[in-house]
Amino acid sequence: MKAVEIAKGVYNVGVIDWNIRDFHGYSTERGSSYNSFLIVDEKVVLIDTVKRGYEDQLLENISQIIDPKKIDIVISNHTEMDHSGGLPRVMHYIGEQKPLFCSKMGLKNLAHHFTHKWNFHGVENGEELNIGSRTLTFLETRMLHWPDSMFTYCNEDKILFSSDAFGQHYAGYEMFDDVVGHTIMSHAKKYFANILMLYAPKIQKLIEHVVEIGLDIQMICPDHGVIWRREPGKIIEAYARWSQQVPEQKAIVVYDTMWHSTQTMAEAIADGISKEGVSVKPIHIRSSHRSDIMTEVLDAKAIVVGSPTLNNGMFPTVSDILTYMKGLKPKNKIGAAFGSYGWSGESVKLVREQLEAMKFDMIDPNLRIQYVPDEEGIESCVAFGRQIGQAVLNG
Ligand code: FEO
Repeated sequence: MKAVEIAKGVYNVGVIDWNIRDFHGYSTERGSSYNSFLIVDEKVVLIDTVKRGYEDQLLENISQIIDPKKIDIVISNHTEMDHSGGLPRVMHYIGEQKPLFCSKMGLKNLAHHFTHKWNFHGVENGEELNIGSRTLTFLETRMLHWPDSMFTYCNEDKILFSSDAFGQHYAGYEMFDDVVGHTIMSHAKKYFANILMLYAPKIQKLIEHVVEIGLDIQMICPDHGVIWRREPGKIIEAYARWSQQVPEQKAIVVYDTMWHSTQTMAEAIADGISKEGVSVKPIHIRSSHRSDIMTEVLDAKAIVVGSPTLNNGMFPTVSDILTYMKGLKPKNKIGAAFGSYGWSGESVKLVREQLEAMKFDMIDPNLRIQYVPDEEGIESCVAFGRQIGQAVLNG
């Protein structure tokens, strides 16, 4: 990617990671980008760097605008290494004692990552920095995505440099919302479900705060994916909605299977749910990435989970998705557990315990079938599905 001017004197000098397909366990089927922003004013400011290994491209992009050595100030909105990994090289290149602004938590977290004695300036929430014809305001946004996270807002251009928030793992030459179009929303939704869902209460408070202080946002520049220049309100509205976790009349039946018995049950349960007029999708865990399953979880009302019993326990892939799901703290869900078993049959009880630990409203009783479901067994699955469907409609 070349440097792109996004407003007069403001550039995206970041890089595209076309080939990344696994971002710490998140499937990035469209790659990603590490956006970095250059503001050329009386002071030249760089906001965030890039992942280690991409520093040459970053410096080359900056060079298309200005000699990188003329950068006066670096701002680190977030310590995670997809944005800070390039700091050592950049600071070394531009001058180790150039001021490096970050949040107070950023001071601590950068020190946990780097031994360099940079010229740190830890800023307070709301603190301002004049850079000539512009003033930048720092807004603390703890846990969006790490304790050190903050936004930088340009008062004159009304641009919000939002770090991870409002991002998407998306790679393309067309890096603006109006160019990519509505398809970008599915990437933004997946990003929210897998990165930010557990911080939903903080996002609600942040949006309330932004409304309260009347922050005029004309453009949002996240550190990943497209820049929201035409409809920044669209992604803010989506975040407000997603963070409330109000489910749709939708169910997912997530399962794994050994000899197709739990699969047969899953499809019969989905059939029963569908008969109640509820949207439903059976999802074989080994045919779907966990991060895609979580995107479905975000707006589903019923999470129905099936596992065969293997060695007196849950099937390992079921354990994997439940562990992942639990960490992301989905709310306002109905849960149900089912599965086929041979002799001991512990898995369904174990699945239920995990769903209960997530505070889901559970469907009673669980449904277990020994070995292969016969006609009567299939009917019991359809009835179980109908029961779940009714619970969704009445929930
Ligand atoms: Fe894109 Fe939390 O780093």
